[in-house]
Amino acid sequence: MKVTISVIKADVGSLAGHVKPSQKLMEAVENYVKNNSKGLIIDCNISSTGDDIAILCTHQQGTLNERIHKLAWDAFLAGTDVAKSQGLYGAGQDLLKDSFSGNIKGMGPAVAEMEFEERPNEPFLFFAADKTDPGAYNLPLYLGFADPMHNSGLILSPSMNKGFKYTIMDVNYIEADRVVELNSPEELYDIAALLRDQERFVVESIHSRNNGEQAVSVSTTRLHNIAGKYTGKDDPIMLVRVQGAFPATGEILSPFNIGQFVAGFMRGSHTGPLMPVKRFSTISFFDGPPIVTCTGFCVHEGILTEPVDCFDHPYWDQVRAKISEKATDIRRQGFIGAAMLPFSELEYGGIVDKLNKIDNKFKIRK
Ligand code: F6R
Ligand code: MG
Ligand code: MG
Repeated sequence: MKVTISVIKADVGSLAGHVKPSQKLMEAVENYVKNNSKGLIIDCNISSTGDDIAILCTHQQGTLNERIHKLAWDAFLAGTDVAKSQGLYGAGQDLLKDSFSGNIKGMGPAVAEMEFEERPNEPFLFFAADKTDPGAYNLPLYLGFADPMHNSGLILSPSMNKGFKYTIMDVNYIEADRVVELNSPEELYDIAALLRDQERFVVESIHSRNNGEQAVSVSTTRLHNIAGKYTGKDDPIMLVRVQGAFPATGEILSPFNIGQFVAGFMRGSHTGPLMPVKRFSTISFFDGPPIVTCTGFCVHEGILTEPVDCFDHPYWDQVRAKISEKATDIRRQGFIGAAMLPFSELEYGGIVDKLNKIDNKFKIRK
């Protein structure tokens, strides 16, 4: 059977700053989806990562479906009403347009979707990150799909021996989607040359070259490109099908032990290590560190199993402890050099005015 998995996520208000949505807000979103989706979706799961709420649903309407996107938009509006009634911070923050217009892409919320013919057993992973941007998945996707140091299946399994096709988007180009398709392993160095620049080039999808099937879908939204000003970091989501012709779950999780430095953290303007955390985790130290959750499911005839929390295991406790040290270390250099993002990536406009003012005071010494 052909099934579509759609995840749509937004920050529509949170407790105590940008920390976590309230229970009431979560319930409002969940109830809206449950009460307004009869005959439209097959199953759904609602979760939070930091201050973001994700609606994951299965259906047979295909990707970019207007009714599915409107359901999510309206659910987030229902959540926003509750956020306002509770005085939550940033109520409706990611709903950047006044009215829904056919497709939620470009309206604020992030979307990751995949339509495929279900395998007899269909395991997949849902990642959600907070306080960072979509380039945060570049390194894990490079290592998980193209490097035998993490993906031993590239050597050991005949079902991955042809490698994978990466579709990479230039997110600085805002008139339309600007994408390139590159094949691993032949074009590995070209892929690396692009993925290195994680603020500009972002993996959008990955397909198996053994069977043509899609393995990955990443949300590529850059909020500041939509709003034209700071409205929060993009907080990307991603779907990854695993096992068989795709990497094993553990091969996809493996690179997350690096705690790579990503853009985001406090005011979306700093560099911090990406910490794999348990589902429903909050945000804390210096409005961070940037976090990522991973929820695993199997799906059969569109019906989801119960979720499993992939970073809830003793192994990740020591990883988190090391990453905490990395976070503390980079914070010791405050606003200097690599600790704060380059000018083009700073999310707050205030510094631009400040620098313009100072610029006028400069004198050329003869
Ligand atoms: C980062 C983030 C927070 C806020 C910070 C200030 O993505 O959401 O670090 O930037 O708490 O928030 P405002 O500007 O809303 O007072
Ligand atoms: Mg927020
Ligand atoms: Mg967020």
